[in-house]
Amino acid sequence: MKVLVIGGGGREHALAWACARAARVTEVLVAPGNAGTASEPRVRNVEVQAQDVPALLQLARQEQPALTIVGPEAPLVAGVVDAFVAAGLACFGPQRSNARLEGSKVFAKQFMQRHGIPTAAWRRFTAATYDAAWVQAQRAPLVVKASGLAAGKGVIIAASAAEADAAARDMFGGRFGAAGSEVVIEEYLPGEELSFIVMADGEHVLPLASSQDHKRLLDGDAGPNTGGMGAYSPAPVLDEVLHARVMREIIEPTIAGLAAEGTPYTGFLYAGLMIGADGTPRVLEFNCRLGDPETQPLLARLRSDLTELCEAALERRLHQVRAQWDERCALGVVLAAAGYPDSVRTGDVIEGLDEAARLPGKVFHAGTRRRGERIVTCGGRVLCTVGLGERIEEAQSQAYALAERVRFAGRQYRHDIGHRAFAHR
Ligand code: AMP
Ligand code: GLY
Repeated sequence: MKVLVIGGGGREHALAWACARAARVTEVLVAPGNAGTASEPRVRNVEVQAQDVPALLQLARQEQPALTIVGPEAPLVAGVVDAFVAAGLACFGPQRSNARLEGSKVFAKQFMQRHGIPTAAWRRFTAATYDAAWVQAQRAPLVVKASGLAAGKGVIIAASAAEADAAARDMFGGRFGAAGSEVVIEEYLPGEELSFIVMADGEHVLPLASSQDHKRLLDGDAGPNTGGMGAYSPAPVLDEVLHARVMREIIEPTIAGLAAEGTPYTGFLYAGLMIGADGTPRVLEFNCRLGDPETQPLLARLRSDLTELCEAALERRLHQVRAQWDERCALGVVLAAAGYPDSVRTGDVIEGLDEAARLPGKVFHAGTRRRGERIVTCGGRVLCTVGLGERIEEAQSQAYALAERVRFAGRQYRHDIGHRAFAHR
């Protein structure tokens, strides 16, 4: 069986690696992939960009993959699944109408309001409807969000109403392009974040193992927000009681609500949650895909055949399958390029990958490419080193042993990935 993975980041390296492990998979194509996918056995990169829907469709018509898995949000929002389905190709991911859950924060908020799904109190504004007096009257901190896709950067936590006002005006002024022409201003929710990721088949849900990511650039959760600097699985904050509550109050009403509105959801669904001090879960955001870097530790623990789970979802029989997980903990540390998350420098030579390959654990590539005989950086998040262990400490030291071995100029990484897990003992 041939599989196509769309995307070229760390999540897609993990997806391609997981698919290539499945006994029945003969070849995995990755469009466009990276230097890591290029060197995996049974994996082949194809030079087609992840957003180029017509070129992806042409590729799939030529290669006839039995299954396509879409990694990033951009092709989903661009309608790649709609195009594949119309062409009779099996493609796991939500259609464009449902990708709006991530692609439009206003759409997601309105949907949650219609279905009573707990989330922060909010208001939407455009430049024309903006109400500076209302903002000034709110209690800080406030959260200001560009409604459209802004590569994880369109969220400003404003410490004062004046800061929120400046952030909103900045967005209307074009800081995030069209993504900021509509803005959501919402209540700040204190608590602990949790990534709750499920597979859905339009009707049934298969929850994946829990995970938690570290969004801030610097140790101690300081510095600017990033796409994620590290993650681990499982997340001890999620006990059985909270799991049941998240399913009942958030996941089930979301899947049922979308089906009732005539747009049944198929694909990975990622609910970014804030768990309040009293244990109440609320939705910060929906993503219509797997998380990056959550996927890397998550798939390092997956024992089941991922392609079988995706097929079950496409055949609407997710209720008949189970996902098997390695009992051990997995933890991933992101190595980022100089300048990340603002202006990223590229082209730095990466050393030590061969040495790292002989150590336990796994190095997933993200922003890497081959230049002659060498592998160089070509993106903000460059690599994610994943360790496994009976205890989170063991997974952590394995991941850091790998991280230290792989070197490039300007390399930045956090030294405290997993610290929240320790707080739960
Ligand atoms: P989002 O893209 O909406 O998940 O926002 C990115 C990050 O901003 C989240 O992972 C949180 O760390 C933070 N955040 C977003 N909304 C809120 C909120 N209402 N209260 C507190 N933190 C938030
Ligand atoms: N790690 C957060 C995300 O994938 O959105």
